[in-house]
Amino acid sequence: MCGIIACVGPRRTVDRLVTGLENLEYRGYDSAGVAIQNGSGVEVHKRSGRVGELKEEVPLGKQADVGIGHTRWSTHGPPTDENAHPHTPSDENVAVVHNGIIENYSELRDELEAKGHEFTSDTDTEVIPHLVDERLEETGDPEVAFRETVRELEGSYAIAAIMDGHDGLFAARQGSPLVVGLDDDAHYLASDVPAFLDYTDDVMYLEDGDVVVIEEDDLSLTDLSGTPVAREVQTVDWDPSETGKGVYDHYMLKEINHQPTALSNTIQGRADPESETVQLEDFPPETFEDVRDVHFVACGTSYHAAMFGAKMLRDGGISANAYRASEYGLQTDTIDDETLVVAVTQSGETADTLSAMRQAADKGASVVTVTNVVGSTAAREADESLFIRAGPEIGVAATKTFSSQVVSLALLSQRVLGDATTGEQRDDLADFLASLQQLPEHIEQVLDFSAAKRLAQHYSNHNAYFFIGRGVANAVAMEGALKFKEITYEHAEGFAAGELKHGPLALVTDRTPVFAVFTGDEDHDRKTLNNAKEAQTRGAPIVSVAPADHPSLEFADEHLQVPSSSPEWVGLLANVQLQLLSYYAAETLSRPIDKPRNLAKSVTVE
Ligand code: M6R
Repeated sequence: MCGIIACVGPRRTVDRLVTGLENLEYRGYDSAGVAIQNGSGVEVHKRSGRVGELKEEVPLGKQADVGIGHTRWSTHGPPTDENAHPHTPSDENVAVVHNGIIENYSELRDELEAKGHEFTSDTDTEVIPHLVDERLEETGDPEVAFRETVRELEGSYAIAAIMDGHDGLFAARQGSPLVVGLDDDAHYLASDVPAFLDYTDDVMYLEDGDVVVIEEDDLSLTDLSGTPVAREVQTVDWDPSETGKGVYDHYMLKEINHQPTALSNTIQGRADPESETVQLEDFPPETFEDVRDVHFVACGTSYHAAMFGAKMLRDGGISANAYRASEYGLQTDTIDDETLVVAVTQSGETADTLSAMRQAADKGASVVTVTNVVGSTAAREADESLFIRAGPEIGVAATKTFSSQVVSLALLSQRVLGDATTGEQRDDLADFLASLQQLPEHIEQVLDFSAAKRLAQHYSNHNAYFFIGRGVANAVAMEGALKFKEITYEHAEGFAAGELKHGPLALVTDRTPVFAVFTGDEDHDRKTLNNAKEAQTRGAPIVSVAPADHPSLEFADEHLQVPSSSPEWVGLLANVQLQLLSYYAAETLSRPIDKPRNLAKSVTVE
């Protein structure tokens, strides 16, 4: 939540901070601001609203050797100009940007107010610049003042600060991501790599407890006590062109269309139908020999992908469940040394998921993460990581990463079933892997021939939108509804098809289209077909999301067609249709598709 960008180096202008903020806006977009050293002091520009609005006010082109910027997703205090970051004390000698939550801020604020400090915002962040100011007055040493301040904070934070009379940048991390970018003549610091990827791909991920002081030609990294620490410099393999919108109107549409490429990358070198083998880099044969029970923990879209993973493992005879990470707590009682916990998280920074991982690790479980972000907190804390290789995803609505997660989990589940003595890989593994290799091409077909745009326009102005399915189609129905409500702001619900008659049917009218997802699993489809008819009898228009010639087409009002394949892949292809449906419904309603209200891409608070 919230995005930080900072840069140090000769003539790094305000423009670089603003571009960095634009690239980070997916992390929050309630307000934005920058602070620079202007040669005679600290100069701050900030306001509520999006970076585009800040741009109208900041002195673009102005040169400065050091600066910080922030885009905010509000936690403490509404999105006003006063609550926008950077924050300063009264004499504006220090400017601070912060992500996370300072849990002891009210005690600190009381102490500082008693000493005469005047506060101007509702934020927890504002205590930090006041505290630095206080310690600066006592010690006269910016680095000591910063470190002492950080030591007094409780909670989670990524902080960056600049101070009048010092050309450096001060930063600290505890529970909220920060990455340093290293260029020949400049250093960058950000919440995420896309903020500075146009300038450098050499990065150093900070770890909890790290304090860094960055100057033009020097970088000193220590722990909270001042003892030097070293962090590896890595090169990220994301292409800067992947972070632009390209020819598309929105990142979401670009990312939906990027799925064939993303999936080719996900699959690359991992699945061989001829030898019927699945190879996953950091998981040599027998890694999962002792696994008897698998817990998936995840949130939102990643949870829906986890439902696929759990189903595939159960089909192979291993006990497996997907848990919402925020509700995981009690399940840790069932952990033993044969439990594998799989944390599914695109960003690798979701606080609920990280908390579930930590609870599982405390109980002795092996923890694997399936994530998109190398160097993320999840990747660093897990015992091992499986990277989904989807490339950067900027739209707040997760699309291509869902598909890459599902495929990664399918491969992981076959590896677990192959190793574990209690499970069995699928009988049709060769066909399953062969159809996986056709998946990028099948997605191209959906993208080329989808009727989703027409249906989105046809059904706009209805009262509510329901999505139903069984087995993996249940996960698709829930994901379809989440995407629809997230970006259209219309009421949408996903149901296990069989549950419709146990209550939700009362909501069904001729103003509630029902999207029924069929995967070609005959037993499931036969029952879902009856459930769809039950809704149609109550007046609901039925849209069948199914392969050609499916029996549901005999009565459905409309059809979103998907290619035939293994049921899991048909489910994934149906999801692509539903992504397009949501996108075009939101477009019809003129919603801000990439930045839906009240949301942020990466949710780093519990
Ligand atoms: O980064 P993560 O996968 O851990 O994020 C989890 C959810 O916050 C995320 O999937 C969210 O539900 C999406 N915005 C939905 O499109």
